[in-house]
Amino acid sequence: MSTKKDLFSYLAIYDENKDGESFIPLSMGAPGPEMLAGSSELLIKSTECLLKDPLEERYTFQYGPCRGDPGFCNEMAKFLSTEYGDSVSSEDIMVTAGATQGLHLVATVMFDKDTPIFIEDPTYFIGQKMLKDDLGMNVIAVPTDDDGINIECLEELLQKYKPDNKPNKSPFWSMIYTIPTFNNPKGHCMSPGRCEALVALSRKYDVLLFAEDVYNMLHYSGAKYCPRRLLSFDRRSDPDFKGNVLSNCTFSKILAPGLRIGWIEAPPRVLDPILNSKTSWSGGSFNHYTSKLMATALKEGLLQKHLELLRKEYGERMNIACNALTECLPDSVKCHNPNGGFFIWLKLPDQVDTLELLRMALTKYKVNFINGSSTSPSGSYQNYVRLSISFCDRKQIYNGVSKFCEAVKEVMEK
Ligand SMILES: Cc1ncc(COP(=O)(O)O)c(C=O)c1O
Repeated sequence: MSTKKDLFSYLAIYDENKDGESFIPLSMGAPGPEMLAGSSELLIKSTECLLKDPLEERYTFQYGPCRGDPGFCNEMAKFLSTEYGDSVSSEDIMVTAGATQGLHLVATVMFDKDTPIFIEDPTYFIGQKMLKDDLGMNVIAVPTDDDGINIECLEELLQKYKPDNKPNKSPFWSMIYTIPTFNNPKGHCMSPGRCEALVALSRKYDVLLFAEDVYNMLHYSGAKYCPRRLLSFDRRSDPDFKGNVLSNCTFSKILAPGLRIGWIEAPPRVLDPILNSKTSWSGGSFNHYTSKLMATALKEGLLQKHLELLRKEYGERMNIACNALTECLPDSVKCHNPNGGFFIWLKLPDQVDTLELLRMALTKYKVNFINGSSTSPSGSYQNYVRLSISFCDRKQIYNGVSKFCEAVKEVMEK
């Protein structure tokens, strides 16, 4: 069996394999079929509500404003203010076609090929490959510890790569790419102290701090608010505030990836060059129709209800996976229980090559995962594993994690 499959092959396997006996994909960071349940109803209701006014036709199916429909930006600002317990302005919101497009847009309209981009190591495995292989950026791996990006190492690298003259394309000469909340692949959240330090460094070297805030709303501890997003540490009341942080977000994890819609939240200094780009100008709003549906879903409270269900179910799955790991793994393998997001990050003994483990897990135990080195811009983390709780149902997660543990034990006994 190949180690590489696309989502559709997993869906076909999933449908044939409801008992979870033949193959269990723990690699997937997409919502599984059960987590998409309710999306049709939500979209039918929102569509009926939006299109019942015949006058809407001429606006909804027209090109939209680059920033996004004002109704969308207003509803998003209200929703985010409630979720974050913070005051979010509709003027800082821009619609995108998902987090991938948000990253691609920012990287291409603000930076040139070969620009040094500082990326935490490990990171979202496709994001770093996109920047390096598709866009020809100079990806610089920055070491992390349990709390996120290592500030001292980052500062040394910023000093090393800072050019004498800033290129003209944007207010920034470079970008730091980070996933501060329920990190992919590590599952942890950066502490407030680390967030402060990172924002201070981005101001000092005047680089863009690009935060992938993709999992923030999937928190499972019952807290009233999402963890504080990195953007909120770039306080406008600070004397040295310039506007250095961008929050890149998506509906893919809180509703449905097939909708291809997301948003960017950023202050004018960051947002204006993106809004004024020819890419935005040519097509207008990147997903006008769907953004109007999302605005309706938010106004009617439909998305908020859906989100409650997701938090409950994903929280249960996370507990099942972590309990199974604690029960079945040897004591030498440490497991932490993330209270949000999709991922569990495991360190296996140094001698275990998790690519080898993956081949064996696939052929003998019919379970997969993401091996550590593919998440690493420096090719490190060969003895680490990322497991995901998003795609498989509770029973499959229990079975899959148990099989994974069998595979680990076999490899460790060799
Ligand atoms: C950090 C990160 N960014 C972006 C994406 C893709 O998001 P979207 O579907 O909105 O393009 C993912 C999905 O796995 C992700 O984990």
